[in-house]
Amino acid sequence: MILNLSALIKKLNMKLSEIPVLGIGMASDVSAVQPDFRKFIDQEPEISYLNFGAHYSQFERIKYYIQDLIDRGFPLVFHPINFNISINSKEDQYVLDAINRIVEYTKPKWMGQDIGIWVYGKQYLGSYLIPPILDMISINEVCKKYKYLSQNVNCPILLENPPVYFSVEKMSMNTFFRKIVDKINCGIILDIGHLIGYNQATGRDYKNIDITDFPFENVIEIHLAGLQYSQIGEDLNIIDQHAYPIDDLCWDFLEMHIHKMTNLKAITLEQEFCSNEVAFNNLEKAKFLFKPYFLNYA
Ligand SMILES: [Fe+2]
Repeated sequence: MILNLSALIKKLNMKLSEIPVLGIGMASDVSAVQPDFRKFIDQEPEISYLNFGAHYSQFERIKYYIQDLIDRGFPLVFHPINFNISINSKEDQYVLDAINRIVEYTKPKWMGQDIGIWVYGKQYLGSYLIPPILDMISINEVCKKYKYLSQNVNCPILLENPPVYFSVEKMSMNTFFRKIVDKINCGIILDIGHLIGYNQATGRDYKNIDITDFPFENVIEIHLAGLQYSQIGEDLNIIDQHAYPIDDLCWDFLEMHIHKMTNLKAITLEQEFCSNEVAFNNLEKAKFLFKPYFLNYA
């Protein structure tokens, strides 16, 4: 079925409004080796959903580790790691089929992925993903790709701001997302660590981030994690680090701006490779600070 753009936007808007409020959850490997996210299911501090990242080829791995959660209907969110969202190329049919198989089996409330190039030719880039050039050409590519994926994947799709260590840009990341939202009114995942790293990498004030233009009203999910600072001489590099305690800059940013996120449905603590103790402390603090926000939606 081919929809024209206005019909598609109508369909997507309907889907976004139907997205449930999930509350506070955790992103963790499905194996639960580190951290053991199962320590936070049915016991305090409790997560209300699991965000699982998976390559399209990992259906059997997902089934092996979390079949029990799927059987009991525990809420899930899916983070694919293979779509090239910044370019309007068609994905291979076997990739779409494999993703749809995962979606059909896990029934995630939504899926979301960083805008970028994750696969170049037959080379998988993973955490070395290439962020988009921030210009109108990329915006048009992203919007077309979003439309294409929405027509071929049976799940609402959110777009995440990617990690950026070097930016080629004619506009800020904030304006880039604003213009995308103006065109397709999509839901957004705001990864606060990625935004801090982007501001630092581009010479902006990363401790007091300029939020001009950013479409907070379209933020559905927040990502929180630690930050890894590498200081070499006068030079600094900041990267999102899931194994660390959530950084104060991230907590502070969310506290300062959460009231602008009028469609926020979920806060994900990205905890892959975190110790259980760090995950416990992060979760307790997140629930103390932000659980009251979600109670307003009950
Ligand atoms: Fe993220």
